[in-house]
Parts: sequence; structure tokens; C-alpha cells
Amino acid sequence: MKHFAVPGALTASPVQDPQATRKEDEDGMTEQGFKRFRRRRAPAAAMPSASEADRERPLAASASPASAQLPATLPEPWDRIRQVPFDGGAKEQRRLPLVSCFRTAPAAKSFDLLRTRLLHTLKARGWKRVAVAAPSSGCGTTFSAVNLALSLARVPGSRTVLMDMNFRRPGVAQAMGIPIQAGMGAFLSGSAPMEDCLLRPLPSLAVGLNSAADQDAAEILHSRSCGAALDDLMLRSGADTALFDLPPVLEHDDTAAFLPQVDGVLLISDGTGTTAAQLAACEKMLAGHAQLLGVVLNRARKSESPLH
Ligand SMILES: Nc1ncnc2c1ncn2[C@@H]1O[C@H](COP(=O)(O)OP(=O)(O)OP(=O)(O)O)[C@@H](O)[C@H]1O
Ligand SMILES: [Mg+2]
Repeated sequence: MKHFAVPGALTASPVQDPQATRKEDEDGMTEQGFKRFRRRRAPAAAMPSASEADRERPLAASASPASAQLPATLPEPWDRIRQVPFDGGAKEQRRLPLVSCFRTAPAAKSFDLLRTRLLHTLKARGWKRVAVAAPSSGCGTTFSAVNLALSLARVPGSRTVLMDMNFRRPGVAQAMGIPIQAGMGAFLSGSAPMEDCLLRPLPSLAVGLNSAADQDAAEILHSRSCGAALDDLMLRSGADTALFDLPPVLEHDDTAAFLPQVDGVLLISDGTGTTAAQLAACEKMLAGHAQLLGVVLNRARKSESPLH
């Protein structure tokens, strides 16, 4: 019999078989028995040193100080998006009421209900990209998109992206009270990666913001580089849901230009101003281009809320 008495060599410890032990005592020592004997005699010496363990399992992580100095792998793209301070409860600087930060407020509950219904629909169809748009300006598109994004970001283990694609009148940065220097131009033109242009106000929420209006709004949304940048964003961010805040459907052709990039549209209707004719015109514009996921009644009277 050959004995491998390599210092520190270790094999997986088999369950002790009393019969086998007896047999060894009678027949002389087997290779297994020899190793067991060595372990029993010198338990500390039998433990592999870190370097020996590394030799045996070169791919396994090791906690030795030497290996801790090896270059670490880069964090994934989502974690490289810069985190920015965000106080959802603060009111100063901010234009929009972020009801979604006050969990018990009736409006916050409405956004949670909308989130749940939206997630059911998206999950059932394997969709992720949702445009948020209204027939006309001031209906509450940004208000709805931001509050819905905050509600989505509370789903444990999820990732939500909110992109301000309203280049006519960007509003998300101001709504969330996030100061920005540069917009998303470099990202949408394909000259900068998402992790250099997006920000993370919450660990589970990334936002793409713009600071100033751009008269080439429709052209940006039409461009091939914009489509490619958003494909890359969805792939590399691992986002579960992406919301796109868009300009009014009936005032500009920006939303129409952007429809190929989304799976569906949430239409925001102002309970105090939007007419049935405007909603019908929007539906007509969307028909054949994008799925209408639902019409959200903003500024609804209390009696119109599904929670009352
Ligand atoms: N449900 C609401 N309750 C209280 N205030 C609201 C509500 N919806 C909208 N507002 C207010 O109305 C104003 C316009 O809202 P918002 O900016 O969301 O409109 P918008 O549709 O994004 O407009 P635009 O098309 O110009 O971007 C904001 O000051 C916002 O705070
Ligand atoms: Mg807006």
C-alpha cells in the first residue's frame, strides 16, 4: 500500500464507519485510515493553510490577507451609478408633492395600488418599459411618474429606472430636488455609459435627468443612438421596470417618435381638465404603435378614488 504523507494534505472527512475502523485494526492501515490517523494525532497540522487551500481550489474565494490584496472585480454597472442624497420628506426646493414618501397618505396608497396593478400586467407579458404621458401640459405626468417610480422602488430586491425624456420641459430633477450639472445628452448620443450619466437617489432607483430644454426633442427621441443607449441601459442595469416621463401627446410629436422604445403607455388624465375627446385622440395616436396600459385619473375627486 502506498501512503501519501504530504504535509497538510486534506481530503473530505468521511463519516466514521466503526466496522471499517475495526477492519483496519485487523488488516493493517488503509490509505484512508492513515489520513484519519494523522488528523486525530495532529488536528491543527492537518488543517490546510490558506496557500494550500488555494492550490487545491484555485477558483474559491479565500480570506487570507494575501488574497485580500488581489485586485477585486469591478462592481456591477448598477452599483457604479453615483448615489446622490435624496430626502423624500423635505419640502424646500421642490415643486412637486412627493406623496409616495408618506406611506399612509391616501394619494400614496393610490400610487401603491397603481404600482401593483402595473407590475401584474408587466409581469404577465414580460414587459419592462413604460411611457408616462398626458394629452396636454400640466396634467400631472411628472407628478405621476416620480411618485410611481418611488413606489416601485420600494418593492424589495427590485430595480427601477426613471428617465426624464421630456426635453421640452424637463421636470424630474426639480421635482425630486436633485441638483444636476449635465443632462443625458452624452448618454443618449452613445458617447457616455449609463453609469456616468444616471444618478441613484435611492439604492433601488436610478434616474436620468435633464436640466434644460432642447428644441431637438423629437429628433433626439427618434435617433438610432437613443434606441441603442436605452437597450444597453436595460441590459446592463438589470432594471425590472423603466418609466419614461414624456411630453404631452397632443402638443408635440416627441411621444409618437418614442413609442418604438416602450412596451406600453400609461396615460395621465387630469380629472379637472382633460376631456373625453382628448383621451380618444390619444388612443387613436397610440393604436397600432404601443399598448395602452391604462388611464390614470389624476386630481380625482375623493368619490372617484378606487380606495374610497
Ligand atoms: N394630484 C396632484 N395633487 C397636487 N398637485 C398636483 C397633482 N398633480 C399635479 N400637481 C401639480 O400640478 C403641477 C403640474 O404637474 P406636473 O409638472 O406633474 O405636470 P406635467 O404633466 O408633467 O406638465 P408638463 O407637461 O408641462 O411637463 C405641479 O405643480 C404639480 O405639483
Ligand atoms: Mg412634466
